[in-house]
Amino acid sequence: MKILIIGGGGREHAIGKKLLEDNRFIQLYFYPGNGGTSIIGKNIENHHSPLDLGVFAKKNEIDITIVGSEFFLLEGIVDIFNNMGLKIIGPHYSAARLEGNRIFAKSFMKKYGVRTPKYDIFYSYEEAMNFFKKKTNSVAIKTNGIAAGKGVIIAHNQNEAEKALKNIMIKKKFGKSGDQIIIEEFLQGKEASIISFFNGKNIIPFLSAKDYKKIGENEKGLNTGGMGSIVPNPYITNSIWIDFRKNVLEPTLEGLMIEKLTFFGFLYFGLMISNNKVYLLEYNTRIGDPEAQALFPLMKSNFLNIIQYSYQQKETYIDWKKLYSCCVVLSSIGYPEKYEIGKIITGLNSLEEPFYIAGAKIEQKKWVTSGGRVLNIIGIGNSLQESIKKAYDKVKKIQFENLYFRKDIGL
Ligand code: GLY
Repeated sequence: MKILIIGGGGREHAIGKKLLEDNRFIQLYFYPGNGGTSIIGKNIENHHSPLDLGVFAKKNEIDITIVGSEFFLLEGIVDIFNNMGLKIIGPHYSAARLEGNRIFAKSFMKKYGVRTPKYDIFYSYEEAMNFFKKKTNSVAIKTNGIAAGKGVIIAHNQNEAEKALKNIMIKKKFGKSGDQIIIEEFLQGKEASIISFFNGKNIIPFLSAKDYKKIGENEKGLNTGGMGSIVPNPYITNSIWIDFRKNVLEPTLEGLMIEKLTFFGFLYFGLMISNNKVYLLEYNTRIGDPEAQALFPLMKSNFLNIIQYSYQQKETYIDWKKLYSCCVVLSSIGYPEKYEIGKIITGLNSLEEPFYIAGAKIEQKKWVTSGGRVLNIIGIGNSLQESIKKAYDKVKKIQFENLYFRKDIGL
């Protein structure tokens, strides 16, 4: 069996390690991959477009491709692979718009009664500023396109809103992503991520997760790709789970079926729990990073079977270990802005599994940093506290110049 995994972060390394753990005879290929994936498979080079990758997959008789990163999904990689008769896990372009086009996603939620914060859509700076004249509450200003994860600004007053709108709609800080915007009611509460597998008929949720998006402790500072995660999310109680199924998952499934947006792939619900109710803030059409890194070590089921059962039209069931998981991201000081690379990493070769490589590679037999987010260190325990302690005990064994990590993951 040959599997191609598209993406180059810790998430893709985690997917690859899980597949191999379940079946050590799988041959893995990654594009573009990273230093960790080059050890468990082959990183392919010089195949930059989805079409190039399709040609590679055909030529090398790849059985299944799994798309990690949204970037390729929004380039229509699934449509291209399907047209070439290749099996690929991920949404076709129309469904990937649930992540890539926020106005499309919010309209879908509204149409099918998926509970989401109230919102308005604006096509010009003037219209949006007029709206603020009547508004006193905090709002989330969101670009229509995802703007590499940066297009959401929370404004607590008119001045902040004006500054954000100028940046988005006049200075075009996020390019064309900001030609249209959404202004959404800002909800106070606890965030949660529920990632699921969609087998074309049913949405099968994974364990709940919580990610930590800001660079600073207590969720202060700039947004990042994610500085840590825990599984399960302690705020997802039984009653919240029931509320999620009834008011988010079931209407989403109904909408996907009616709109013929079915696919084999992942659907990520980015949630806010506010006043004991679950609201959907956004869909992503992939597995989260770094949620994947905390989730996969707890997955008991064979991951490849989950994927293959959808092609075989078999019912999908996912079994989980009754344990807790904590992922701490080690990054280079300066990330998510400017940072240095090429720093020697020590302690990695003797580190206890699980851990994943995000931005590191081997040079002259030594591990060196090659990205902003460098390593994902995982602790597994019988309680959340134990998993946190194990993760941070492992973190102490790693060193490199300019090492930074948040000390409050899971706390
Ligand atoms: N952890 C959030 C994301 O993957 O977008």
